[in-house]
Amino acid sequence: MSLTAPAVGHDELATLKLLALDGGLEGDRKISCADLAERLDASNQTASRRLQRLESAGLLERDTVSDGQWVTITDEGERELRAAYEEYRRIFETAPRVELEGTVTSGMGEGRHYISLSGYQRQFAERLGYEPFPGTLNVELRDDSVRRRRAVEAIEPVPIDGWEDEERTYGPAVCHPAAIETAGGEFVDGIHTIAPERTHHDDDQLEVIAPRKLRDVLELDDGDHVIVHVGEH
Ligand code: CDP
Repeated sequence: MSLTAPAVGHDELATLKLLALDGGLEGDRKISCADLAERLDASNQTASRRLQRLESAGLLERDTVSDGQWVTITDEGERELRAAYEEYRRIFETAPRVELEGTVTSGMGEGRHYISLSGYQRQFAERLGYEPFPGTLNVELRDDSVRRRRAVEAIEPVPIDGWEDEERTYGPAVCHPAAIETAGGEFVDGIHTIAPERTHHDDDQLEVIAPRKLRDVLELDDGDHVIVHVGEH
């Protein structure tokens, strides 16, 4: 992919795109200049000039017959269209990310228990690629982050299935790839957010799992400000 100037101007490129939309990449297409002019909202002369320019730039081959012309988009023409397409891809297909801010808090010590359960550990190892430190780091989200949290739904989740042992069943959970940043600018990626699949009652609490104890790695205490970047890194 390149951002070099196209061989022709934008008007010609728009004309090429129109021809491609008509199937111009699949082989010969018969067009009439009048018809093309109308669709381009331009005069016949303008439409014809654009076709000429596309031809001289090597993006189009033409064969004029009595009632119109046969056109074929060349390989070079296709490359030109693809370059434009790549640029749009870069605009619209960047992986979604959501930044959630809050402060580190202590929970009720439940994370330790759940994260260590073998039915979950097995899936973490397989699907996240590591066995998490037994526990979850709790982050109490600021109000604006609580509202923004819905946007996480646009990010590809890593599902953790529910399972059961002889005594009880354990619910499914959803993880998202994430990174954590401290107020001092320290950054750790390769971690995940985790939330029970169904309940939404604790929307202001974000729980994070990681291969290592983040309080130790980042020297975090309760009340410390952190940003959790959710999304692929
Ligand atoms: O007591 P609490 O529910 O907050 O924590 P836990 O889930 O049982 O986790 C034990 C301790 O490790 C807590 O202090 C967590 O904040 C911390 N932790 C951490 O620093 N990094 C992790 N990746 C997971 C937990």
